[in-house]
Amino acid sequence: MALIFLCFFCFIAVSSGAVSNRIGINYGHLGSNLPSPAQSIQLLQNMSIGRVKLYDADHETLNLLSGKDIEVAITVANDEISGIAANQHLADQWVYEHVLAHYPGTKIRFVLVGNEVFTSINTPEDMQLARDVLPAIRRIKNTIKAQGIRNIKIGTPLAMDMMETTFPPSNGSFKPEIRELMVPLLRYLNGTRSYFFVDVYPYVTWFESQVWNQTAINLGFALLRTGNENYTDPQSGLVYTNLLDQMLDSVVYAMTKLGYDDVLLAISETGWPHEGESGANRENAAEYNNNLIRKLAAVPSIGTPARPGEVIPTFIYALYDENQKYGPNTERHWGLINPDGSPVYEVNITAGIPHMRD
Ligand SMILES: *[C@@H]1O[C@H](CO)[C@@H](O)[C@H](O)[C@H]1NC(C)=O
Ligand SMILES: *[C@@H]1O[C@H](CO)[C@@H](O)[C@H](O)[C@H]1NC(C)=O
Ligand SMILES: *[C@@H]1O[C@H](CO)[C@@H](O)[C@H](O)[C@H]1NC(C)=O
Ligand SMILES: *[C@@H]1O[C@H](CO)[C@@H](O)[C@H](O)[C@H]1NC(C)=O
Ligand SMILES: *[C@@H]1O[C@H](CO)[C@@H](O)[C@H](O)[C@H]1NC(C)=O
Ligand SMILES: *[C@@H]1O[C@H](CO)[C@@H](O)[C@H](O)[C@H]1NC(C)=O
Repeated sequence: MALIFLCFFCFIAVSSGAVSNRIGINYGHLGSNLPSPAQSIQLLQNMSIGRVKLYDADHETLNLLSGKDIEVAITVANDEISGIAANQHLADQWVYEHVLAHYPGTKIRFVLVGNEVFTSINTPEDMQLARDVLPAIRRIKNTIKAQGIRNIKIGTPLAMDMMETTFPPSNGSFKPEIRELMVPLLRYLNGTRSYFFVDVYPYVTWFESQVWNQTAINLGFALLRTGNENYTDPQSGLVYTNLLDQMLDSVVYAMTKLGYDDVLLAISETGWPHEGESGANRENAAEYNNNLIRKLAAVPSIGTPARPGEVIPTFIYALYDENQKYGPNTERHWGLINPDGSPVYEVNITAGIPHMRD
């Protein structure tokens, strides 16, 4: 998320196979006024949150999550990736310290290697980092596999600026300069039945359509509102009722073009800001997140037009407003919860209470 607005003007499961559509949330802590980890974990429980994603692998938080029925995604920081990619010993050490020290008491289910590493590749160092992601994923996986652990999936969250085109969805394609990185990543994710994690923000696409184009995207379409004008993709004939499905399916088609048509999708971040630029207000944020939860929690699963019925693990962005984030005001107003623990607006997470499939 950090880069979404910085990059503003450049577009932008699970034990042995069983997946659930529990609602997940991103717990970032770049705020000076946030509740303690202990209070935060209690809040997650009070809210019936089924999954939490951390941008690190903080020991205190992982300890506090021990024994809780909350599945956890932990993150290898970008600046740890190249070391791990180059050295199995460092990978072993990372896994011992951050996974084995807490698992299985803490339900670690996802290890995410890096955050948006294919975004803004401008320098040779950026390119090296992007190239090191897959080797780092392999090394982490080696260590985890050697321990006989089978219910942790490993992947890397990528931002939608990896896309060259997203519209119509059937025309989705990755940027040419990252295709050589994408092919081996997809081969690996497919081979390990892991997820392709995407940070997907209909808000940003909608906002940009307002700024750039008077024939803007309909707000209701971006908010997952029912009863909108539908869009039929001329190539695939698929009917779209919302922008999120269009964006996700553009990724599905981009993968298909590279020969990988059944890599599973997960949404590592999505949400709607409640304050800031145009369209960022509590009413819209509540509508988006409640519609999102209703869609994700539906039984049987809805999926997308190109992936009907697929369960898409999703992490809402974010638990809190983070007042130490850079960028426009909007960047600091994605939270569901105020610093005092009260809701910023009403979100009915219990609509997405854990439902196990398989
Ligand atoms: C969670 O709920 C309990 C029981 O209702 C309450 O005592 C506690 O203050 C709540 N914790 C937070 C952090 O909201
Ligand atoms: C599909 O995307 C390409 C660029 O990748 C663009 O040139 C072309 O016009 C698009 N086709 C349609 C039907 O929009
Ligand atoms: C993806 O994985 C499936 C199942 O393991 C396999 O049958 C298929 O050949 C793989 N696809 C590619 C393009 O390698
Ligand atoms: C912008 O609007 C024009 C029509 O005015 C439309 O043809 C074009 O596809 C739009 N572009 C985007 C990116 O929405
Ligand atoms: C859009 O599609 C949905 C589902 O296919 C349908 O229920 C709805 O009536 C359609 N909306 C319009 C305005 O045609
Ligand atoms: C929350 O969702 C549940 C399940 O769909 C529903 O029973 C309940 O009435 C909802 N609560 C509110 C306040 O909307």
